[in-house]
This record gives sequence, structure tokens and C-alpha cells, in this order.
Amino acid sequence: MTGFPQADFTPEVERETAAIWEKVSRRVTPIEWRLHAPMIAQINRIKRERNAVILAHNYMTPEIFHGVGDYVGDSLGLAREAARSDAAVIVQAGVHFMAETSKILCPDKRVLIPDLRAGCSLASSITAADVRLMRERHPGLPVVTYVNTSAEVKAETDICCTSANAVQVVEQAAREWGVDRVIMIPDEFLARNVARQTDIGIIAWRGRCEVHEQFTAEDIREIREAHPGAEVLAHPECPPEVLAEADFAGSTAAMNDYVLTRKPRQVVLITECSMADNVAVDAVDTEFLRPCNLCPHMKRITLENILEALVEDRYEVTVDPKVSLRARTAVQRMIDLPPPAVPARYDLVRALHHVDVELI
Ligand code: 13P
Ligand code: SF4
Repeated sequence: MTGFPQADFTPEVERETAAIWEKVSRRVTPIEWRLHAPMIAQINRIKRERNAVILAHNYMTPEIFHGVGDYVGDSLGLAREAARSDAAVIVQAGVHFMAETSKILCPDKRVLIPDLRAGCSLASSITAADVRLMRERHPGLPVVTYVNTSAEVKAETDICCTSANAVQVVEQAAREWGVDRVIMIPDEFLARNVARQTDIGIIAWRGRCEVHEQFTAEDIREIREAHPGAEVLAHPECPPEVLAEADFAGSTAAMNDYVLTRKPRQVVLITECSMADNVAVDAVDTEFLRPCNLCPHMKRITLENILEALVEDRYEVTVDPKVSLRARTAVQRMIDLPPPAVPARYDLVRALHHVDVELI
């Protein structure tokens, strides 16, 4: 850690963090814990003093997720919590677009991100000018934008979506605009996967998640051969042929819910690696198989830089007020929709049909 003397694993720290250790001891080694626990204790104390909350995404490592996260979940859940929070400070344990979303929803709060370099390949795949060009080419069609985008892109948007509500949002936008096609940006694979569950036509962009695009249908077939009883859950940012081989597809919160309610004996989560580590803390009877991939952006967030963020009050995330106001309309429209009642479930029979999307 830079600039901070390492606090000791004192009996007081041990007492303060005992309940967390009990939870994570199957995923964190005792040696690691002696390093993590003093920071967890410090972070939780400073949070109380500063009236701060930590919003932690499902891809955070277990010591962050279970140790210091006040609200944990998927992109939709964290956005909802940001909108509800009455804390003075929000520390986003996630990536930059998530911190911007929090700032857009809470312009009067101080929003901090522990590492400004925590980006996203989807967010950097498209600019506001690209969206304006798409609108010019397809006048009259609503623009549905995945939250994995910059504030500037959201400002050019009619309504946002996440992987938890993408089908619901696409159908809602088509109904409201009275059209049978929508522009859906920037994730090509999410767009293709949504197109398989709706009759609404989709015009998509060529953005990809660098973590999920690496999974292949062959990966799933190999897992099934080696572990015939394993249940395969995939994130909708994966290529459609991967979802077609899976038993279930949904947002990170939906995967979490699936494992905790259905208690599979063996499961593989086709997504970022920390997801399985975090669910495994509560899903004690489930065996988690590999493969998984690491998101280099999510992994920039550590206990060390969360502590630094709180102590040094950095790095503040700001959004130009004019941009923020326009972006907020699109994010708020999404938040105002009823929460998805059951986890998004892909109709895999329909998923086998080829549904084309128009790619720009
Ligand atoms: P969700 O948590 O919304 O499923 O998103 C996954 C993701 O990749 C966020 O960056
Ligand atoms: Fe972006 Fe993919 Fe990383 Fe999520 S997992 S932050 S979509 S690069």
C-alpha cells in the first residue's frame, strides 16, 4: 500500500472483524486475513465517521464484497441503492461507469472511486458522437443504452438498461415510441441475446466485454463432458452460442439468486472469477467449477485503495451538470420501471433460432 503504515492484526481488530472472518474463512487464507482484517476494521470505522457507504459490485474480491460492502449486487441493484442512499459520501467499489451512474443519480453527494483507471471495454467502445450518428441514420427510433457507458453517451440516450432488465426495457421503449425496432448500444452480444427473446427488431453496435467475449461454446461442451451433472450459468454479455449451451443466463444478481435458491450440487458461472468466490461464501453445499475470467478493471479496486480513498478523500467522480441532467432522465426511466420480478430466464429453445441484428 502506498503512503499508509500497515496497521497490526491486534486482538481488537480480531474481535471487530470476527463475524466477517467466520463468513469468508472458506475463501480467504488465515495469512491473507491477517493483512486484510486491519484494513477492513479501519475502513468500517472511517465509513461511520464520514457517513459514507461502499457500493460493491458482485465482481469485487471477497474481502471487499463481504468485508466492507454496505450494498452489494449487480449494476441495477447498485444504481437503485445509490438513488435511495442518504449517505454523504459514496465509495464505488466497481468501475468508472458505475461511479458516474451514482453521481448522476446523486448529484449532491460526493462520489469517490478508489482507482480512476477502472474502466470498461464496453464503455470505451462508443462515444456521444457515435450515438448522434446512429440517430441520424435511424430517425424516430428510441436509443436503449446499456449502463456500461459514459455519462456523455447516457446523455444521448432515451432509456438505460442493465443485463437484468434489457428485454423489459427494449419492449417498453418500443411500446412508448410506437415502433417495432430500437437502437440498442453498445454491447453486440447483449443485443443479440435480447433479440432472441423479443419480436422487437434491434440495431446494435459492435462493443464487446473483453471478459465475456472470451468464452466459447466449446468451453461449455468440455465442462459438460468432464462434469455431466454440472449446471452452467452464463452472463448475457457472452456470445449467443455460449448462452445456447447454458442452462440459465442472467445478470450477476440473477446468477447469485439461482445458486442460492436452487442449490445445484455443481455449478459453473461463465463470468468474472470473483462472482463464484462471493456466492460460494453463502452457498456452502455447492461446488464451483472453473473456467472463469478476470476483469482487469474490476481488479484495480483493492482494500488498500478503498482505505486511501476514504482517508485522502479521493478520487472524486464528477459529471458536467448539463450532461448529468440529460443522462439522469435516461437512468431514472430505467429505475422507475418495476424491478424484474423473477430473474431473467432465457428461452433456450428460441435461443437456438437465428435472429439477426443490424450492426453499425
Ligand atoms: P451486471 O452485474 O449488471 O450483471 O453486470 C456485469 C458487468 O459486467 C458489469 O460490468
Ligand atoms: Fe466492463 Fe466486462 Fe469488466 Fe464488466 S466485466 S467492467 S463489462 S470489461
